[in-house]
Amino acid sequence: MRLRHFIDTQDYTKQELLDIIELTRRIKAADKQGCTPKLLQDATLAMIFEEPSTRTRVSFEVAMTELGGHALYLKPGEIHLGVRETLYDTAKVLSRMCDILMARTLKHETILGLAQYAEIPVINGLTDYNHPTQVVCDVLTMIEHAPAGKRLEELNVTFIGDATNVLSSLMLICTRLGMHFIQAAPAKYQAPAQWIEWAQENCAESGGSLRVTDDPIEAVQQADFVYTDLWWWVGQEEQIPDRRAAFMPTYQVNLDLFNRAPAHCKFMHCLPASRGVEVTDEVMDHPRSIIFDQSENRLHTEKGLLVYLLYKRLPRPSPQLRAYHQGQIEALLANYHADKR
Ligand code: CP
Repeated sequence: MRLRHFIDTQDYTKQELLDIIELTRRIKAADKQGCTPKLLQDATLAMIFEEPSTRTRVSFEVAMTELGGHALYLKPGEIHLGVRETLYDTAKVLSRMCDILMARTLKHETILGLAQYAEIPVINGLTDYNHPTQVVCDVLTMIEHAPAGKRLEELNVTFIGDATNVLSSLMLICTRLGMHFIQAAPAKYQAPAQWIEWAQENCAESGGSLRVTDDPIEAVQQADFVYTDLWWWVGQEEQIPDRRAAFMPTYQVNLDLFNRAPAHCKFMHCLPASRGVEVTDEVMDHPRSIIFDQSENRLHTEKGLLVYLLYKRLPRPSPQLRAYHQGQIEALLANYHADKR
């Protein structure tokens, strides 16, 4: 099977993304009946985290365990990546010892470098540019919570807030799948021209639509899903006063804004959230908030992605071949200790 990475949903066609989602749905259905198939028996996932994580770390580790494999947690200070060893050397060594690699890197160039040199599939667990595993999960969640009778291509998604790595991925996957996407943010925090250009190219092919506005009230009026994300991230602490002034109160997803959306509209957040900042408790804990279904779906989605990228690459020796090697090794071991009996 040819080596395939998962760095950007733009590297995948609409049909491939739908295939991953369908695979995820089947694995989730099995999981809900307590019989997740051990599709990745004895496989090892290396997980590099240059930044903190709750959902990504736990979901990938649990996914590997439940699929019959194993995950290694590798963090800065405990491995040599980029400090005492080149990216090239790390990627080559991990490729010899592990079956698949997932990395959360500060810089997008780092994940691209790992993917360039690795001989095993590399999954992007978030960079300063995008968060592709999150948004596959988000689309799965939207499909599960879509209004009755509405097709994927009819769904309206409104993102209120900053042009984060989640925003870039969400606008790109939604437009690639033919959905209708709006970002509402102050002009300074709207999606950059390059992302808009790519999303518009997606729309031209898929029939989806894209709009960027500074009017959050107008933006939620047709929304099936309202989504928000943090207004600042690790390393942006100095910008907090400016960012708070730009977004608060107009772009906070509070009950007043959420009530302007249709009565069926659901609330989504990739988490972690700053309750009381970009979103209030009333909306986070609203009956139409689906944040924890969304969060749980990270686990199912990681399983789908891991199986999609890895299943066909794993060796599956016959019982006879296994027995042959076991016999050879056991015979050797018997000789080693013969003189001590
Ligand atoms: N949504 C998400 O990626 O969460 P973590 O930062 O906890 O992994």
